Amino acid sequence: MAMLEVNNLSKSFDKLEVLKDISFNVEKGEVVAVIGPSGSGKSTMLRCVNQLEKADGGTIKVCGTDMLVKNSSGKTVYTDTKTLRDIRLKTGLVFQNFNLFPHMSVLRNITEAPVCVLKQDKKKAKENAMELLKKMGLESKASAYPCELSGGQQQRVSIARALALSPEILFFDEPTSALDPELTGEILKVIKELAAEGMTMVIVTHEMAFARDVADKVIFMENGYIVEMGAPEQLFGEDASERVKQFLQRFNS
Ligand SMILES: Nc1ncnc2c1ncn2[C@@H]1O[C@H](COP(=O)(O)OP(=O)(O)O)[C@@H](O)[C@H]1O
Ligand SMILES: [Mg+2]
Repeated sequence: MAMLEVNNLSKSFDKLEVLKDISFNVEKGEVVAVIGPSGSGKSTMLRCVNQLEKADGGTIKVCGTDMLVKNSSGKTVYTDTKTLRDIRLKTGLVFQNFNLFPHMSVLRNITEAPVCVLKQDKKKAKENAMELLKKMGLESKASAYPCELSGGQQQRVSIARALALSPEILFFDEPTSALDPELTGEILKVIKELAAEGMTMVIVTHEMAFARDVADKVIFMENGYIVEMGAPEQLFGEDASERVKQFLQRFNS
């Protein structure tokens, strides 16, 4: 079953058309890498799917449930609040700049949503958070504050925070772009482990070697369109379009 189905998605900011006709599916357990030049609409696409931005047209289905519906006058609108909330709980988003709560400890950053949103028992939420921290190699940092951690550690906490809500699909928006190069590897390793566990993921990234290695499918976006989509062997291979090759050349030097 497709975990995410996006069809003819469009979005403008005033007169600027940022997403023009975006269609793609993500199957269960699939890892999709989204690449493309800056300003091509990658973040906006992720933000629309994660309900942080309002799409203008098209359809978005998460785990078979429609996020967008047509109203009586044929306009595309969001579905009812309860359904939107249910859908939101199925998706998690990891940001470039971590977006941790600075005034909360690492542990509380992770337990906050499970306790307040899912009404999870505090003890259980804590146990679960400690498990996730262990998985991220950060058990000893449970009572630290975000400002006391390196960027790579902060990003691992934010991945743990997203996982604490048990999302069906995890989205990453350039998860390593704010990190020093030597910290990038630790995040890519965590994402690779999640992929091996069968987590369904959509990753916007400029790490081309990583995309080639870990993705089942690669999407190349430019100017609000999906210009090319296919297996990594195709996009990173000889048969890719000239435009994709030209874009990739920048990363080979
Ligand atoms: N909130 C906003 N208001 C107006 N324009 C925006 C906003 N967010 C993004 N844009 C514009 O939309 C285009 C796509 O941006 P974005 O989705 O961030 O691209 P990418 O993530 O591929 O770099 C850019 O031209 C950007 O300036
Ligand atoms: Mg972006």
